[in-house]
Amino acid sequence: MRSIIIAIALLLFSTFSIAVNTIQLEEIAKNLASQLGMQLKARLKTAIEAGGPSNAIAACNVAAPQIAEELSTSGWKVGRTSLKLRNPGNSPDEWERATLLAFEQQLTAGAPAANLQNSTIESSDGITRYRFMKAIPIDSVCMACHGETIAEDVQSILAEKYPLDAATGYKPGELRGAFTISKILENGKLD
Ligand code: HEC
Repeated sequence: MRSIIIAIALLLFSTFSIAVNTIQLEEIAKNLASQLGMQLKARLKTAIEAGGPSNAIAACNVAAPQIAEELSTSGWKVGRTSLKLRNPGNSPDEWERATLLAFEQQLTAGAPAANLQNSTIESSDGITRYRFMKAIPIDSVCMACHGETIAEDVQSILAEKYPLDAATGYKPGELRGAFTISKILENGKLD
């Protein structure tokens, strides 16, 4: 009897500590996503003000992977993905694709874009990962390069740099993609 009580107590304790650690991981992941979003927008705005959207493409092309790399410290990996890609290097994997499709359905059903997020813990080949995604909606700043009407000079640079570009034709409020954040958990532990 006593050992059963101890076993139950241990189980409750470990379930509780996993929950607490998952909350901590989610806080860090959310913070990384918002930092990537804010830094990219700031860089875009400065570049557009300095030389228009055609000038800002180069900034985005170099700055996006660079900022993501800078934020990827302490085992965290930070990036962006989408169902309609500009850069094929940002392709979603299976879980990311399923999450993006679910975000689109939730958005169509009326959920505010700011609330759309998803997380999971995944193990494969002996590696356990915490994963997190947060939706990126289109706003007015994005239209010059992802909207329905795109200036000719912008179009020609995009065609040259991204011959397979599928990331145009968006309207404000639509889902552009998502931030995708992950961390390998050492020994499968959540701390
Ligand atoms: C000046 C042009 C420009 C503007 C404005 C712009 N983008 Fe982009 N966007 C790009 C370029 C160029 C890439 C490809 C970056 C790369 O090579 O990683 C890109 C890629 C992306 C990606 C990664 C997925 C993919 O298709 O490769 C997302 C997500 C994204 N943009 C969202 C946004 C959002 C949201 C806004 C508005 C806040 C925005 N962009 C504004 C040019 C722009």
